[in-house]
Amino acid sequence: MADRYNVLVIGGGGREHAIIWVLSKSSKVNKLYCLPGNAGITQLAHCQNIAATDIDGILAFLDEHKDINYVVVAPDDPLAMGLVDILNQKGYMTFGPKKDAAIIESSKAYAKSLMKKYNIPTADYEIFDNYDKAIKYLKTAKYPLVVKADGLALGKGVIICQDFDTAQTAVQDMIIDKKFGASGNKVVIEEFIKGFEVSVLAFTDGQTLVTMPPSQDHKRVFDQDLGPNTGGMGTFAPSPKFTKQMQDYAYHNIFMPTIKALQAENRSFSGVIFFGLIIDGDDIKVLEYNARFGDPEAQSVLPLLKTDLFEIFLAINEKRLDKINIEWSEDCAVCVVMASGGYPGHYQKGYPIDIGALDDNILLFHAGTAIKDNKIVTNGGRVLGVTAIAQDLLSARESAYKNIQKINFIDKHFRKDIGIK
Ligand code: GLY
Repeated sequence: MADRYNVLVIGGGGREHAIIWVLSKSSKVNKLYCLPGNAGITQLAHCQNIAATDIDGILAFLDEHKDINYVVVAPDDPLAMGLVDILNQKGYMTFGPKKDAAIIESSKAYAKSLMKKYNIPTADYEIFDNYDKAIKYLKTAKYPLVVKADGLALGKGVIICQDFDTAQTAVQDMIIDKKFGASGNKVVIEEFIKGFEVSVLAFTDGQTLVTMPPSQDHKRVFDQDLGPNTGGMGTFAPSPKFTKQMQDYAYHNIFMPTIKALQAENRSFSGVIFFGLIIDGDDIKVLEYNARFGDPEAQSVLPLLKTDLFEIFLAINEKRLDKINIEWSEDCAVCVVMASGGYPGHYQKGYPIDIGALDDNILLFHAGTAIKDNKIVTNGGRVLGVTAIAQDLLSARESAYKNIQKINFIDKHFRKDIGIK
């Protein structure tokens, strides 16, 4: 085992910037690399423009950089493609679940059947790969309901339908018109559950599970949860609405049963598992699983971590997560995402970003940014995440919004209500 590690992180968004920022403080980490990275990550890691899904490109990069001895696979797509399995076969130590465990995110149909088999609370559902059968079901179903593409769809494959016409269009888009590619070959149609959503991320080595502070995401693009779904427009942590009692219930009825179910199915999960929960009074159900850190959940949760993140990674690799004490700050964090106007639809790239002097309690996590002619420019839908740390949520929120005024680019868009709910 090495004393210090040269770590490659796969991905190039705000989540990866947060992971790299935390890893850069680890006494166990010597040098950091990131593929493809972004303008902010280049300040902490050697980046090269190789996509997170370009498996051959990643392997060629590793061949050229023989000092790398640990790889963190952060995004959903390469996890679903089995990048961890491929790297393990080549002898690399890795962080992230193997393909057969990452299926809890890459197939919603699989996740639902796992929950049904092991009595893990979730909304009632039906699965269809045949258009006519789905439409027949929709004709007598109760509305509202939710139509979900089975596979990964950049957060866009979940349609809340108030009536038959919307549901019929969603199913047609997925199964017939292939608007979500192969991800929509199969659809899950599930009961709509009202309530508030909480994201609980947890470290697990397949046996022990340690949760992180609960956070809340804001998925719609406009204030008051209006407009289309995005990857996430802002988060805060910890969520005061997720009480200790809820946490205990979820630990015994959702979190550990999921880990044990995956073990029983020979799909032992190693890495970060993300429980998307919906809570209505005392009723807590799983909306979705993700097989990774959330984005932008990581940008508000990881800054609160006091324990060395890389030590946690190693404990997970060595299946001794039960032996380490993971500590969190008592502070609160609010992350507000600055996006390109038009996102999640069409938007322009390449606008210069001006960043003024930010307060000391601010962490600026880059997402869609690049360097052009020595200037930082916009290069994606979600551009930056402004995370403020303070003793309470209200102060963190005020601080994030005060500092966001010092960052400017053409067509910038951000929600004004992050942290209110
Ligand atoms: N913020 C939701 C996700 O990472 O999928």
